[in-house]
Amino acid sequence: MSVIRIRGLHSLEGNIRIQGSKNAVLPLMAASLLHSGTVTITNVPRIQDVNCMMGILEYLGCSCVLEDHSLTIDTRALSAARIPDQEAGQMRSSIMLLGPLLGRMRQAVSRHPGGCSIGKRPIDLHLSALRAMGADIRVEGEQITASTPGLAGTGIRLSFPSVGATENVLMAAVAAEGTTVLEGAAVEPEIEVLCRFLREMGAQIEGAGTDTLVVHGGVPLHDVTFAAPGDRIVAGTYLGAVMAAGGDLLLAGAPAGHMEQVLAVAARAGCQVEILPEGVHVRMEGRPKPFVLSTGPYPGFPTDLQSVMVAVAAVADGTSAIRETVFEGRFASAKELQKLGGHIIIKDRTVLVEGACPLAGKEEAPREAQAKAGDRQEVEVQAKAGDRQEVEAQAKAGDQQGGVAQVEARDLRGGAALVVAALAAKGETVVTGCEHISRGYEDICGDLAAVGAEIWMERE
Ligand code: UD1
Repeated sequence: MSVIRIRGLHSLEGNIRIQGSKNAVLPLMAASLLHSGTVTITNVPRIQDVNCMMGILEYLGCSCVLEDHSLTIDTRALSAARIPDQEAGQMRSSIMLLGPLLGRMRQAVSRHPGGCSIGKRPIDLHLSALRAMGADIRVEGEQITASTPGLAGTGIRLSFPSVGATENVLMAAVAAEGTTVLEGAAVEPEIEVLCRFLREMGAQIEGAGTDTLVVHGGVPLHDVTFAAPGDRIVAGTYLGAVMAAGGDLLLAGAPAGHMEQVLAVAARAGCQVEILPEGVHVRMEGRPKPFVLSTGPYPGFPTDLQSVMVAVAAVADGTSAIRETVFEGRFASAKELQKLGGHIIIKDRTVLVEGACPLAGKEEAPREAQAKAGDRQEVEVQAKAGDRQEVEAQAKAGDQQGGVAQVEARDLRGGAALVVAALAAKGETVVTGCEHISRGYEDICGDLAAVGAEIWMERE
């Protein structure tokens, strides 16, 4: 087991090259199964989730070669349709193999997908859409067994713009005979990337980037080489790092066009943001101003950066309110932040954060939280008088704490948020549960150490 150790309060200066997007690459890997041939994806992040997906594809009979950041998948020998239990349990994205496997093999077997524990995460939308396309799907306990005499295009309306369900339907529709019209589709940038990838393989898809996708299926596909975009969530994490710790960073390769809401919140919090051809230049002096945000499906503020922004709010000069609307249980790291002296109250789906700077584990006392009257007004609508008293009582208690801080990552982005908070904490912080972070960050320690952070990974 590894832990990450951080000695905070160093400002971050320099360049970080943003890795390729996990949430773009995983569906591309799944989509490669639709074609019998060779697919090459470049700018692939070397992360645990990619390893896990490669493991599944190899188990199914494909060959995968990852050299540097270029992944070549040969799908000609695809021979199995059963996703191995262990991998399915590790990674939510295994559910995305259902559509392509049904399309190519006419059957798919999987256990219920795993992934981050951030809420209930049902798969009803995936299953009902695939059923509408002609799949017979049985769910017995944890086991999902699906088969079809051949998928057929149809009209589908999603009741919520689920990213994964949109991707699954899109891939199944490419293999299906006839035309599929998918309404209520998610419009996350990664879906547009998947549409582009499939079109470059020969698929006929209209409406990419909109919430209505029209797919004329059953068209033969061909080999492709395709570059994955930069990871907007990793870029947002390092933006959060500079907001919390201060400094001046070029986030090279950050996809600014897909980070509008995130960059707008950063600017409101006092971060100087400059969009350059080579990426996004961010500069932070002093403490962030408090802010209010609510997550939502794209183009809303990404839920994947909610926990990072709670960490930023924990050092803001006042009280922030952050509302989570996508995943009901995504607050594990907010609770952990209290161990670093974060003054945090969770009420239903809203997190109220009274900034304290610097954060500190037990031996290092945080300075008294100073919420200004003006900042408070902004969140008063959401924070009732009772909540406020609770935050203030906690702030006073925090001021008297002492000792070395150890916090536990319980999910991927929440783990990254703890790292961000630790960069702004006095003394040393130990982050355990690093396996969650390695699922999505290629080298968070290396990236941050290269720009001045005192951070390293240690095997225990
Ligand atoms: C994807 C991303 C994840 C991100 C999320 C929301 C990948 C690999 N993962 O996850 O990082 O946090 O989008 O932007 O791309 N839901 C249902 N029924 C379903 C499917 C989803 O009720 O069948 C609900 C979920 O419980 C959740 C909401 O819809 O409340 C959003 O989930 P969804 O968009 O499907 O997220 P994922 O595709 O799992």
